[in-house]
Parts: sequence; C-alpha cells; structure tokens
Amino acid sequence: MAIMVKNEQQIELMRISNRIVAGTHALLEKSIRPGITTKELDSLACDYIKGHGAEPSFLGYKGASNVPYPASICVSINEEVIHGIPSLKKLKEGDIVSIDIGAFKNGYHGDAARTHAVGAAPPNKLKLIEVTRQCFFNAMQYARAGRHLNEIGAAVQATAEAGGFSVVQDFCGHGIGREMHEDPQIMNYRQKIRGPRLCKGMTLAIEPMVNEGGYGIDVLPDGWTVVTKDRKCSAHYENTILITDGDPEILTLY
Ligand code: MF3
Ligand code: CO
Repeated sequence: MAIMVKNEQQIELMRISNRIVAGTHALLEKSIRPGITTKELDSLACDYIKGHGAEPSFLGYKGASNVPYPASICVSINEEVIHGIPSLKKLKEGDIVSIDIGAFKNGYHGDAARTHAVGAAPPNKLKLIEVTRQCFFNAMQYARAGRHLNEIGAAVQATAEAGGFSVVQDFCGHGIGREMHEDPQIMNYRQKIRGPRLCKGMTLAIEPMVNEGGYGIDVLPDGWTVVTKDRKCSAHYENTILITDGDPEILTLY
C-alpha cells in the first residue's frame, strides 16, 4: 500500500481525533496513583473518548493476534512493553506504567502513548522514561519533508543506546489516518535501506519502545501482552505527527 498523503481537510479531521487522544492522556495522567486498577483507567478513557463523540480505536482490533483486543486502551506495567490488557490489577508506588490510547472519529484515527511513574519510582526507572521520551524528540528532528524514513529509527536507536538501553525491534511505528496502521512501517533501529522520502501531508505515529535490559520480548499466553524476555522494565512514548514544509506538527500534545 502506498503512503497516504492527507489534504488540509483530512488533516483537520486528524487534528480532531488526535486532540481527543491527547485529552484522554491528560485525564489519565491526573488519575494515576497507587491503588487504582488498570480497568478503572480503561473505563475513564473509554468514557472520555465516547463523551467526545469518538470510538476507542483499539477495542476489538485484530492485529497479528487472532484474539480481538478486549479493551479501550493498553496499560503496560514495568516489564510489560506494550499491549497490556486492563484488569483488576492495582498500580503500586514505584511502578512505571505505559498507557497507549487510540481514538477514531469522522473516519480518522489518533494514537499516542506515554509512560508515567506511579508515585516515587527509583532513578533507573525515571531515566528509562526520560530517555524513551528523548528518543522520540531526537527522531522528530528528522521528521521533515525530503528526509529519508530510516533517519528516524537511527536517531531512536542512537539515543536509547547512549542511555545504556536497548530498543524493541519486533514492533514499530506506522502511518496513520483512515486506518490505524497505514504504510510506512517506522522501525526504531538503524537500517541500511533508506526507505521512502517523507512528504508534506504524511501523518505518522512515531513510537519508541525502550528496554532497560536486552531488546528481546515474549508475548504472554493472552495473545497480546508483550513483556521483556529478561523481565526488566520497558517504556513507550508515542505521538502522531504531521509532516509539513517546516517543523513537524505534533497532533497529540496537550
Ligand atoms: N499504539 C499501538 C499501535 O500503534 C496500539 C495498538 S493496540 C491494539 O499499534 F490493541 F489495538 F492492537
Ligand atoms: Co501506534
């Protein structure tokens, strides 16, 4: 499939969906505390998304898994990398929690993820969160018309490794628009092949997943939850962005 370039009208619709995702993140960020269950976060998110006339993109989504995703958001604690399924499990002081949110409205999707510390977390976990965020912002410098796609992954990997961490290679970022996952796939590691040139009007979800230990992952028997092989911590940071004539526009900031 070709990379879908969006016109002004479509971009305006992307802004709407992505703003709902950003608002949901702002709400959950305030709600994270020791003792709250991940299911409670899921229902707060679901109510907010529906209250804004959108649908949670992830609910019922079938990826590579043959099990439809059973919740509105993904909540991944500590060694969980991505796709953690909300449950009656409670957050504890010192955990780190990655929250991934998608919203669909007017035919377009928004997608973003954040990792937060629950209360006071140890310095190694805080560093992992900060380096993962920095991976995204360093990669953003290459999200410009005329540059090649592989510069993004190279920047993510360089930043993660400079921090002493490793990047997950089995999952990647993606184009986004009418479909949650459109071309191109956006790897978070160095690749010799330069990939397509970026153009004004492309909308991309750039999402580094960074592990404290090795890059290996396992998928749990629930068919969704991705955990680190060594069970050390992992963090995730994602925004949907728009390629412009100049600086990229982040559509999921709040
Ligand atoms: N942000 C994730 C992604 O881009 C969300 C997918 S979760 C799923 O792939 F449940 F929908 F698969
Ligand atoms: Co995504």
